[in-house]
Amino acid sequence: MNAYDKTGIDDLPIREELKGKSPYGAPQLDVPVQLNTNENPYPLPEPLVARIAERVAEAARSLNRYPDRDAVELRTELARYLTRTGGHPVAVGNVWAANGSNEVLQQLLQTFGGPGRTAIGFEPSYSMHSLIARGTGTGWISGPRNEDFTIDVGAAEAAIAEHRPDVVFVTSPNNPTGTAVEAAVVERLYEAAQAAKPSLVVVDEAYVEFSHRASLLPLLEGRPHLVVSRTMSKAFGAAGLRLGYLAAHPAVVDAVQLVRLPYHLSAVTQATALAALEHTDTLLGYVEQLKAERDRLVAELRAAGYEVTESDANFVQFGRFPDTQEAWRKILDRGVLVRDNGVPGWLRVTAGTPEENDAFLDAVRELKKEQNA
Ligand SMILES: Cc1ncc(COP(=O)(O)O)c(C=O)c1O
Repeated sequence: MNAYDKTGIDDLPIREELKGKSPYGAPQLDVPVQLNTNENPYPLPEPLVARIAERVAEAARSLNRYPDRDAVELRTELARYLTRTGGHPVAVGNVWAANGSNEVLQQLLQTFGGPGRTAIGFEPSYSMHSLIARGTGTGWISGPRNEDFTIDVGAAEAAIAEHRPDVVFVTSPNNPTGTAVEAAVVERLYEAAQAAKPSLVVVDEAYVEFSHRASLLPLLEGRPHLVVSRTMSKAFGAAGLRLGYLAAHPAVVDAVQLVRLPYHLSAVTQATALAALEHTDTLLGYVEQLKAERDRLVAELRAAGYEVTESDANFVQFGRFPDTQEAWRKILDRGVLVRDNGVPGWLRVTAGTPEENDAFLDAVRELKKEQNA
């Protein structure tokens, strides 16, 4: 091509802490059964697709104008949804929305983290928490978990007291393990975080609609430094929409205004999300089917001789494998893509349609036979 060809990232004057690092990269492979990114396997129902087309056409008529910067109609409907399903009254002033909960989390770290500040998460957990910390110049502290992947509360309190982080991440249900966190645990971590700093505690509830347990939203009462983050990517089956949101004290919503880009949420996104919210009940019906499939996966994996971590999400962590990469490859050779999250001995499978789950179960049963032979 030309003389610029040999330039690599590290030859560019990028920030020191980004040198030699890799971007987020779940493999996007063209395989018959893709159960690796915790997506909802069901396409949106046709009546909803038609409603989206209608609402987007309406929005298109004023695309010459910037969208509602405060997304008031959408935040009102999200507040209504949370109030109806979360066991806690939520008003429009408690809600903020952005392009996926990843952007919500990024705005929180831009506001409450940043250079000279730190965030803690209890790992293994959602890898983007540490990546967003890195991207926002926030120092990252990896906190501990118990052998069974529950949070070791005593050790977590000690880590918070020692490091005095500015932001504490609690993921419930946790990704990649599926583990839900009890309200009492969040209460203790919140107390520890306030005593140490005080800091912001972010409860990431991306998968909560799939949980056996109730949402942690009621904990917002009397806790102005607590944030619950949510997404339409999983339960609403709308990962392609890119719509995440948070519920918190209105002061937190005011604070993130300081870093959000003006008009960050396009009119098309707002129209699409509003259409999806009109169909909440149908979409939550799919969630019930997925919960049943998740429970079937747990039972069948155990029957096939695998260890399984208790799951409250739309995915299941299973193992153990002496060589995780090899097991991942052998399942892939059978046409099924699962996820290796780098947790030694464990892989993660997303609950798909009954047919996809059957294909996965056939593959892992064969693998077990091969291992035992
Ligand atoms: C725990 C957790 N939080 C947040 C997200 C991000 O979701 P989105 O940015 O699609 O809303 C994910 C996606 O996999 C997740 O696993």
